Amino acid sequence: MGTKEVRTREEINALEKEIWNERTLDRTKIRKLRRHAFHFSYKKQKRILDSLVKDFSDKDVLELGSYTWNVWFKGNEVRPKSLTCINISDNDLETGKKLAANVDFKTDFRLMDANSLEFEDESFDVVFGGAILHHLDIEKTINHVHRVLRPNGKIVFLEPLNMNPLYKIYRKLNPKERTPDEHALISKDIAILKSSFTFDHYFFDFFSVATGFIALKVFGDKNYGNWLNRLGYGLDSFFSKIPVCHPLFARVIIYGEKK
Ligand SMILES: C[S@@+](CC[C@H](N)C(=O)[O-])C[C@H]1O[C@@H](n2cnc3c(N)ncnc32)[C@H](O)[C@@H]1O
Repeated sequence: MGTKEVRTREEINALEKEIWNERTLDRTKIRKLRRHAFHFSYKKQKRILDSLVKDFSDKDVLELGSYTWNVWFKGNEVRPKSLTCINISDNDLETGKKLAANVDFKTDFRLMDANSLEFEDESFDVVFGGAILHHLDIEKTINHVHRVLRPNGKIVFLEPLNMNPLYKIYRKLNPKERTPDEHALISKDIAILKSSFTFDHYFFDFFSVATGFIALKVFGDKNYGNWLNRLGYGLDSFFSKIPVCHPLFARVIIYGEKK
């Protein structure tokens, strides 16, 4: 496995830009597993995100580092007052611009590093991000997010976690699925968030990863709504209510308000 190369933030940004512009990650294997393991939790995640963002209809929203743009442009009802999107990848921004061509709210796409937001203080009501914080220097970014939010401004982030030893091992064994410097969140990162924002959450996917793995072997890359995945999802729904179990989970939606 070897020692990890230490890169400066500029080097990390250059590498992230190149990887996302050229789509060089090999995610075939993890996608197959996710189609089983996250089959039910993806639906729950969508329901939760939809219900959180529906309150943003009169808000100025900043989204950090999107490429699927699922929340805003893909058949959803939500219509913020304005949506500003930043990304370090020109290609991902271009995708967003195309998807935004037909929306009737104000959009603004900017090539920018999320670690060093270039906006004025108190420019936004909401900062949103799907799987982005773990590509960044969390402390730097959270300071900027706090700065650019107006009083009582809101955050919503969906992020992978790296507290469960099994996920840590999986990640180490499958480095080509991720950018080399990304770091799924650990308790220290959660503490950084909590120091600047109130902290509410939904944890997803612990048992479902194991049942999804077995389901993939049993059913192949189809029949995702099977009983095994349903069982894993049911167990997760129960255990996610017990705080001491939270470090076992693979993903979290964090939402909160500026302190
Ligand atoms: C895992 S993807 C996020 C995809 C997101 N879940 C979505 O559905 O759109 C990571 C994104 O972060 C962007 N990114 C990585 N580092 C960044 C940085 N320093 N500033 C802004 N965007 C960055 C990448 O270009 C990529 O689009």
